[in-house]
Amino acid sequence: MKLVQSFLISGAIIVGSCGISYSAGYVGSETCFKCHPGKYNDFIVSGHSYKLSRAEDAMKRPIPLPKGYSWDDISYVIGGKYKKARFIDKNGYIITAAKDGSELKTQYNMEDGSWSFYHKGEKKAYNCGKCHTTGYKKEGNQDGREGLIGTWAAPGVHCEACHGPAGDHIRSDADAKANKLAVNKTLNLCGGCHIRGDKGKIPASKGFIKHHEQFNEILSGPHNDDNDISCVTCHDPHKMARLKEGIVKTCGSCHEDQEASYKKSNHAAIGMQCRECHMPRATKSAVKKAQFEGDVRTHIFTINTDPKAKMFTDDGKFAVGGYVTLDFACLNCHKNQDLQWASGKAKGMHDK
Ligand code: HEC
Ligand code: HEC
Ligand code: HEC
Ligand code: HEC
Ligand code: HEC
Ligand code: HEC
Ligand code: HEC
Ligand code: HEC
Repeated sequence: MKLVQSFLISGAIIVGSCGISYSAGYVGSETCFKCHPGKYNDFIVSGHSYKLSRAEDAMKRPIPLPKGYSWDDISYVIGGKYKKARFIDKNGYIITAAKDGSELKTQYNMEDGSWSFYHKGEKKAYNCGKCHTTGYKKEGNQDGREGLIGTWAAPGVHCEACHGPAGDHIRSDADAKANKLAVNKTLNLCGGCHIRGDKGKIPASKGFIKHHEQFNEILSGPHNDDNDISCVTCHDPHKMARLKEGIVKTCGSCHEDQEASYKKSNHAAIGMQCRECHMPRATKSAVKKAQFEGDVRTHIFTINTDPKAKMFTDDGKFAVGGYVTLDFACLNCHKNQDLQWASGKAKGMHDK
């Protein structure tokens, strides 16, 4: 029997040879490059692939370590592509203090180079693998490290996290055709990870929606299954959202009237896009930039023009949902104005 390929994934060698089924075998994203080079090249620079990196890969990127630590103390880096990086020690625990146990800010914020506390001083196991890795199983400890809860085939959200294990698909074009992979276009695929808590609510804290809740938000807004819209109606899942090509459908392609009227406005004249008002940064992941400006765009879209509308429930623990308020939609930029002014200007915005 001829050995065809072997792949090294997080320590376990999955060997494939002609005639032997790889059933349930995860093979890694590099394997896809040969036949899907375009998809691979898009994907590998997008956020998903960076979600969790081994120290030896992460150290090639310009990520500073918490004060007093060296790469010898680190097993994995969490994130560190866009918003923030957190660090996992050799025992698999997320670092929350200095090496001698004293107080230290251990979360690095990419946007402004600042550091924040993360669960200051707590012993914090890494139980985040379900949404941050590929081929996750909740049993066991990855690499035998006590703090890493569960095991995975590969760190980070890779091709096979969305398409399923590809062992049978990859040997030849004929095999690929005989062993098709899943292409799931529903909200539920993305919603499995872009969710927090109960999907009927939108958890919030300190005046902002919490991050990784795009599914919760989408369900409370107009762009969901009820209108035959899914995440991939707007997103190419292989491309970074902030790239122009990452968004495959413009707002105007579905809202021609509003686009036509918007084109005549002063806002459009200065190059502002629909998302500036309809998807304000009402969500916070790493840093708060201003009273009404976090660092993640919301997916609720509808703007409530009532100056008395409340964005959050009285206890502040949830967003009311269904709409964003004018403080987030307008007052971030119009810092010297108030809600009353904004309301007057916002009502019938696209009819003027
Ligand atoms: C339910 C799924 C889920 C769980 C559980 C989860 N995350 Fe995340 N996380 C996400 C998603 C989705 C994003 C990106 C979207 C967003 O931030 O709005 C994200 C983003 C992040 C980022 C920012 C990444 C970057 O490149 O800037 C960090 C850091 C992070 N998570 C750490 C953690 C840690 C630590 C845990 C466990 C204590 C955890 N997450 C648990 C889904 C999850
Ligand atoms: C975050 C989830 C996700 C990841 C990661 C992902 N895909 Fe996809 N992929 C999808 C979805 C969803 C579709 C269907 C998109 C659509 O039709 O709008 C798709 C479609 C495809 C298609 C077939 C349809 C087409 O557009 O030709 C191929 C081939 C593909 N992906 C390969 C890959 C490869 C290779 C990787 C890794 C390099 C990868 N995907 C990573 C979710 C993902
Ligand atoms: C030997 C070449 C080859 C390799 C390697 C390969 N693919 Fe494919 N893939 C194909 C071919 C050929 C098709 C088209 C099948 C068809 O249209 O009938 C395809 C189709 C797909 C599709 C569309 C759905 C389907 O199965 O028809 C997805 C998704 C996909 N590949 C993902 C991947 C991922 C993920 C990897 C890496 C883990 C990968 N492929 C590796 C050849 C390959
Ligand atoms: C297995 C969990 C998982 C699934 C499934 C998943 N995501 Fe993510 N997604 C994440 C995590 C974690 C991050 C944060 C990665 C980072 O930036 O470090 C993220 C980041 C993103 C980002 C921001 C980063 C970028 O590259 O632009 C977008 C957009 C995104 N996901 C869209 C989607 C879409 C669309 C789908 C469904 C087709 C999807 N995701 C499915 C976990 C997931
Ligand atoms: C695939 C088509 C499609 C795309 C793309 C799309 N929308 Fe929509 N949008 C709809 C549908 C369908 C509805 C619900 C029916 C309606 O109110 O028109 C809706 C509703 C809305 C509403 C709420 C309308 C109301 O009366 O409350 C707003 C605001 C909105 N969209 C803004 C946007 C913005 C901004 C973008 C781009 C980021 C966008 N849409 C992209 C189809 C789309
Ligand atoms: C109506 C179109 C539309 C739909 C539907 C949609 N998105 Fe988005 N999404 C966008 C646009 C536009 C952006 C902003 C890109 C930018 O400018 O950075 C975005 C940005 C994002 C980001 C990055 C946010 C940030 O500021 O860091 C994530 C993560 C994301 N989308 C995930 C999802 C997920 C998951 C779903 C489905 C549950 C979804 N999106 C559905 C249009 C959409
Ligand atoms: C991303 C920043 C930004 C956001 C968000 C924004 N604006 Fe503006 N707005 C501007 C700038 C910059 C100008 C100045 C344009 C000029 O000088 O022509 C402006 C001008 C205006 C004007 C005077 C010119 C005109 O068009 O009549 C009004 C009124 C206005 N904005 C209302 C609003 C309202 C209401 C909202 C929220 C629904 C809003 N803006 C959201 C940046 C913003
Ligand atoms: C300067 C802020 C701003 C920008 C930019 C903006 N909108 Fe709006 N949009 C609003 C406000 C405010 C409302 C609510 C008007 C109301 O309820 O009377 C609205 C309402 C809507 C609605 C609901 C139906 C309606 O006409 O009231 C849709 C759909 C919509 N916008 C789409 C778009 C699209 C598409 C773009 C880009 C081409 C865009 N908007 C750009 C502020 C904005």
